[in-house]
Amino acid sequence: MIRLGVNIDHVATVRQARMIDEPDPVWAVVLAELGGADQITIHLREDRRHIQDRDLDNVLEAAQVPVNLELAVTAEMVDIAGAKKPYAVCMVPEKREEVTTEGGLDVIGHFDAVKAANERLSGEGIRVSLFIDPEADQVEASFRAGVKAVELHTGAYAESFGTRFAERELARLIAAAERAHEAGLAVHAGHGLNVRNLPPIVALPHLEELNIGHALIGRAIFIGLKAAVEEYKGIIARAEGVR
Ligand code: PXP
Repeated sequence: MIRLGVNIDHVATVRQARMIDEPDPVWAVVLAELGGADQITIHLREDRRHIQDRDLDNVLEAAQVPVNLELAVTAEMVDIAGAKKPYAVCMVPEKREEVTTEGGLDVIGHFDAVKAANERLSGEGIRVSLFIDPEADQVEASFRAGVKAVELHTGAYAESFGTRFAERELARLIAAAERAHEAGLAVHAGHGLNVRNLPPIVALPHLEELNIGHALIGRAIFIGLKAAVEEYKGIIARAEGVR
């Protein structure tokens, strides 16, 4: 079965909006696991806009399933991953001004740094993947860098979903998945996936793992909002009863 990695960054985004201590991403670890998550994914960004260093410690301690740490290829992040030793690391590009990870990692342009980071982290027994655009030359560079897996960036597909460009984006993902598999790389995918655009991605050849965050956490608001309001109404009603 294809593994589902649940990205819980945006639970921390909600917390950081108030700079207090709730909601805590660790609560999401427990509920995601109860829902059947095969993996917990978090992105420790350089600017710490959502996940904090203490969240990484807490998530590593709490999770019963493997933890996949997304990080930029910087000395600081590679040192953190080397010290904390999550089950998996996914190297991503990172720009401070971006709202989310906008494109894939340019493995060709940063080849030496990526290869060195992979050697260091693979040497610690961490499973390393690279988050790349679905392009043959990036797949081939990933293979040469020595990683075990590529995560194909589905953002362009997700943006094109429902337009005449969706078929073309899907074809790019299929071709990249085939190329990665031929090279002996495991195929993962993620970014921008939601309940509508997910089914065609599940059909990608050789797909082993999906990482989904924003839309899943957003959906949890709506699936869970009714129960949350009912809970608050119940608290108010009970407290009124003793007033
Ligand atoms: N995979 C990678 C490598 C990512 O950087 C992200 C976003 O943090 C995701 C998957 C999940 O994307 P989304 O939040 O759009 O589902």
